[in-house]
Amino acid sequence: MQVRKAVIPVAGLGTRFLPASKAIPKEMLTIVDRPTIQYIVEEVVASGIDQIILVTSEGKSAIENHFDYNFELDTILKEKNKMDLCEQVCNVANLIDIVSVRQKKPLGLGHAIWTTRNVIGNEPFLVLLGDDLVQSKVPCCQQMLNLYGEVHESIVAIQHVPKNETHQYGVVEGTALRDRVYQVERLIEKPPPGTTDSDMAIIGRYLLKPDIFELLEKTTPGHGGEIQLTDALLALAKRRPMYAYEFEGTRYDAGDKLGYLKAIIAFALQHPVLATEFRRHIKEVAADL
Ligand code: UTP
Repeated sequence: MQVRKAVIPVAGLGTRFLPASKAIPKEMLTIVDRPTIQYIVEEVVASGIDQIILVTSEGKSAIENHFDYNFELDTILKEKNKMDLCEQVCNVANLIDIVSVRQKKPLGLGHAIWTTRNVIGNEPFLVLLGDDLVQSKVPCCQQMLNLYGEVHESIVAIQHVPKNETHQYGVVEGTALRDRVYQVERLIEKPPPGTTDSDMAIIGRYLLKPDIFELLEKTTPGHGGEIQLTDALLALAKRRPMYAYEFEGTRYDAGDKLGYLKAIIAFALQHPVLATEFRRHIKEVAADL
């Protein structure tokens, strides 16, 4: 069955980004000239998906507004004959069909995904975390869809990380099938140091079969008292094949202060208008370090 829908959970508290995320959703913090969430929506659009399901919570309405039509702004920009800006603003609203569901309590990523069960129904779907950016030639989601076209089973995107960092991630243990593709054998959420030999960390891109909902329903709170997606994924991997895919590109955790700064530099260096001047500036700054 074709993958038509993508879930983007943005209902988390964003505690790692306080105080910036106190009144502004961290997903709305700017990377060069767009909020983080817009890059993620653009990745979905570039991968040919029809619909996005945002999982939101109280205080996240700025995200919904960003992708909505703003009549007042549109009228003022037209009156001032700022047609370029007017077009850019309208384009954001026209990117893709977006619906929202509300996660009433921040009970974890697994719970956030579970809240979309009635909108997704019985079809495979993508999940993109609202603060995880991937810079790549082929959109990361498109790479995963290409693999799904072969395997028709769930896929988690992974990257190899230094062994002393695995405790910060969901980690996959598995067997290499070919370049970049692994059969998943075990998944562990934030394994304590020394408890796994694997360096394959799950990043914020998943392609899931709808069986996950039934398993999420049965998942009891795990690490941090939250309903962990990783625990339900492990149950799914025991039931049917699951694949880990080492995507081509670079991932930035824009929900973390340092990751956010790295993302700004990476995206600014690719910006069609600003890149040349910014590169010169970075070189000057680096020379003084
Ligand atoms: P994170 O753990 O990165 O987000 O979850 P968080 O909880 O907002 O951030 P910190 O750790 O407190 O700083 C990954 C993604 O899952 C969403 C988040 O919004 C983020 O996009 N999420 C997390 C939910 O939608 N609901 C939750 O209950 C937890």
